Amino acid sequence: MTNIDINKFQRKIAITGGAGFIGSNLLLYMVPKYNQYLFINIDRLTYAGNLSNLKTIENSPNYRFEKIDIGDFNALKLCFEKYHLDGVIHLAAESHVDRSIIGPAEFIQTNIVGTFNLLELARKRHEETDNFRFHHVSTDEVFGSLGESGHFKENSPYNPSSPYSASKASSDHLVNAYHKTYGLDVVTTNCSNNYGPYQFPEKLIPLMIRNACAALPLPVYGDGGHIRDWLHVEDHCRALDLVFHAGKTGQTYNIGGHNEIRNIELVKMICGILDDILGGGPRENLITFVKDRPGHDRRYAISASYIANELGWQPQYSFNDGLRKTIIWYIENKKWLENCINGEYLKYYAMNYSNR
Ligand code: NAD
Ligand code: TYD
Repeated sequence: MTNIDINKFQRKIAITGGAGFIGSNLLLYMVPKYNQYLFINIDRLTYAGNLSNLKTIENSPNYRFEKIDIGDFNALKLCFEKYHLDGVIHLAAESHVDRSIIGPAEFIQTNIVGTFNLLELARKRHEETDNFRFHHVSTDEVFGSLGESGHFKENSPYNPSSPYSASKASSDHLVNAYHKTYGLDVVTTNCSNNYGPYQFPEKLIPLMIRNACAALPLPVYGDGGHIRDWLHVEDHCRALDLVFHAGKTGQTYNIGGHNEIRNIELVKMICGILDDILGGGPRENLITFVKDRPGHDRRYAISASYIANELGWQPQYSFNDGLRKTIIWYIENKKWLENCINGEYLKYYAMNYSNR
């Protein structure tokens, strides 16, 4: 990599987890949009990280990649010093609930200790420069499960159910504590379930698309009546852009798609769209009800009225259009999907599904 004059950039912003699902989509959106900023993608490249997602921007003059584990404080420190960072958008995490049930240790290490390392370095930069901002990207799962009615608001009590959501809740609390104690400029976003291109096929939507295309069983947990509030990842990226630039310091913002749907209905929708595009089927016949996930939250739903009123954000995708476009993307990028199916994936798959 050639030397760069970092001073010619108006801002130097690290995006952690930039090789993952949301991080890739965010870089693909931000790098061309803000050519006056330098973006540094900090990623350890776990099973969920894939640099090939970033082919179209990898040679951009305002993009750099640093392979770093956020658990490695010294490596992170060198990176902060090398680029004189004045912003972090923090997405790096272990992100899958079922993996957190099988093995929580990585979740504690990356999501809590990794976030703590970033905050310590951010605190130092905050002492050196006036305009350092830390944007923490979190989840609505920190609030736990809703009953039949109601929505998560910014002041909803924390009540996480899984090791994943508990580790994200811990990191949210640390971020807030650094704001209150050290005056660090922070914003936090708590978003509902995302879908779209480049999502690893352990999550519901790409897993069902992949299995349905391969005529494999479609494992629906429990009675399939659990509800998630789905948001297209590009709508999430637009919200992150707005909050990073215009969000109030110390504030949290809930982001959601006004798109509540039961898992069983969603899986049937995916089958219907695939039958329509590819012929054959009905793929609904592949649906298999399996043993429920322990601690499975029944319903998530976001009230996104605060971000709508304060920052003018609204989701732009309708769920029907977004889901169809996403399914077409996975069909056209079958190779991307199949590249995820390696020994590590098959081992996880066997561990998660064979005893259900
Ligand atoms: P992902 O699993 O697809 O990607 C995570 C990325 O982080 C990968 O590139 C991985 O290599 C990297 N990473 C993991 N451990 C690391 C470490 N120790 N050091 C450096 N990099 C590391 O996750 P995602 O779905 O893109 O989620 C991104 C963030 O958004 C997470 O913080 C997640 O909690 C949050 N979030 C996700 C959703 C969703 O529906 N996917 C919804 C709300 C919030
Ligand atoms: P997932 O994509 O893992 O997201 P999260 O657990 O973070 O909400 O799961 C979405 C929903 O789909 C959740 O209620 C669990 C359910 N699910 C299944 O029924 N079968 C599956 O194979 C998977 C992965 C999830």
